[in-house]
Amino acid sequence: MSKSNKSRKRRNSNTTRKSGGKIDIPWVEKYRPKTLKDIIGVDAKKKQLVKFLEEFPNQRAAVLLGPPGVGKTTLVLAAARDMKKDVIEMNASDARSAESIKKKISESTKTRSITDFIGSTKGKIILIDEVDGIHGNQDRGGVPTLLEIIKDSEYPIVMTCNEWLSKLQRIYKVSEMIKFRSVHPASIRNVLKDVLEKEGHEGIISDEILEKIAESANGDFRSAINDLQSLVEALLHKERILEKDGGAGARIDSTTKELLEDLNSTRDEFLSIFDGIRQALGSTTIAGARRAIGNIEMPNVSSNFQWDTILQYILENIHKISRDDDKIALAMDLFSSADQMLGFVKETQEWSLLAYFINFVAAGIASITNGSKGGFNSSVDQPKFRFFRDSSPTELLDAISRTFQVSHRDIKEELFPVIKHMLIQDDGVFKKELQEWLDLDAAGKRKISKWAMK
Ligand SMILES: Nc1ncnc2c1ncn2[C@@H]1O[C@H](COP(=O)(O)OP(=O)(O)OP(=O)(O)O)[C@@H](O)[C@H]1O
Ligand SMILES: [Mg+2]
Repeated sequence: MSKSNKSRKRRNSNTTRKSGGKIDIPWVEKYRPKTLKDIIGVDAKKKQLVKFLEEFPNQRAAVLLGPPGVGKTTLVLAAARDMKKDVIEMNASDARSAESIKKKISESTKTRSITDFIGSTKGKIILIDEVDGIHGNQDRGGVPTLLEIIKDSEYPIVMTCNEWLSKLQRIYKVSEMIKFRSVHPASIRNVLKDVLEKEGHEGIISDEILEKIAESANGDFRSAINDLQSLVEALLHKERILEKDGGAGARIDSTTKELLEDLNSTRDEFLSIFDGIRQALGSTTIAGARRAIGNIEMPNVSSNFQWDTILQYILENIHKISRDDDKIALAMDLFSSADQMLGFVKETQEWSLLAYFINFVAAGIASITNGSKGGFNSSVDQPKFRFFRDSSPTELLDAISRTFQVSHRDIKEELFPVIKHMLIQDDGVFKKELQEWLDLDAAGKRKISKWAMK
């Protein structure tokens, strides 16, 4: 995950539940402490930041230095809220040059609101996230320009950075340094427990497991909370599947363990898309499928195209692991959640949430293969075309217009009524022909039948 992608997360913090979807907003945002009083255990840092802000312009800049996910940005946002200041956010690695930072600051401070005229200007804090990414000693842009900005800034400048870097030494010298350490696992566990309670899922994960998640997070709140959400979502899906299957509590427990093991595993092996799909479809557990998908070689991880492709490959080949329509239908549900999740990731550019997409895809596969011998012995087919991921006939439209070079409007107005009518009247022959014309896969066939029934 690139730094600039990670930092976009916050800007999308107001994303709400997707209409009709099952995807909750990321818990890291939902449960980000909003006020200083809610931030526990970092009293000294709180005081340091508040003092810096109150005493501005005694000192014009502060640097919050520390590893990812420990609450640096959270602290700044909470302080701003409590002190009723607006935050002008910037990202040094996005901006690449301090010139553009300068421009943005002057633009946003020039914007005056109606309150300015009645004399109660709201204070501002300039937050430059991830100064790690800024250039060192270029004449234009980079550290020298940032120093210039700091020197005569009208507003306090707060910077965050993950590592101590010698190229930033001159900035550190003129800044109040607020240092963060990685968070103690016990504090992480408490936060996880709290989140779980607020979600109403206390019972689903034992204290022992929470402890393990907390320990494997390397002192990073964000990764722990993300892991927790990922785990809970996968467990809930699994539970639903098992309920339909006749229920088996013990199996849920073992799934928890598998997922946990997976949390600790690193991406150690790269697979071609064919090998990755073959391994994924041959896995009998969520963890196994997840690992296989996670290991598929991606030249560019934040590529919309490739993750879509993985799902298409799976849809294309899923019928090779089972011909049981009920099982596949259940899996389709999870694939459609995966698709929604991917949509969410693309929309918000929150690539760190890709794990949920992978989780859903893996859960879909495992819902079919769980309890079987596993292994995938046939060849992997390439996806023919994107097909049917929801019950709307959009994909049918696409398939027809691609195959027959007819416009969508013509298809809707002229062809759809006829096709639908014929499908309803059909004794099986027309459906078969349609499948052949459009080169439909198993999922596509079912979608067509379902559509015709509506
Ligand atoms: N004190 C806290 N209590 C509970 N949760 C917290 C706390 N601090 C941070 N978090 C959680 O961790 C997430 C990440 O925190 P934050 O964005 O502040 O990290 P950061 O230190 O700025 O990381 P990075 O260096 O990657 O930008 C928050 O969204 C929030 O959910
Ligand atoms: Mg941050």
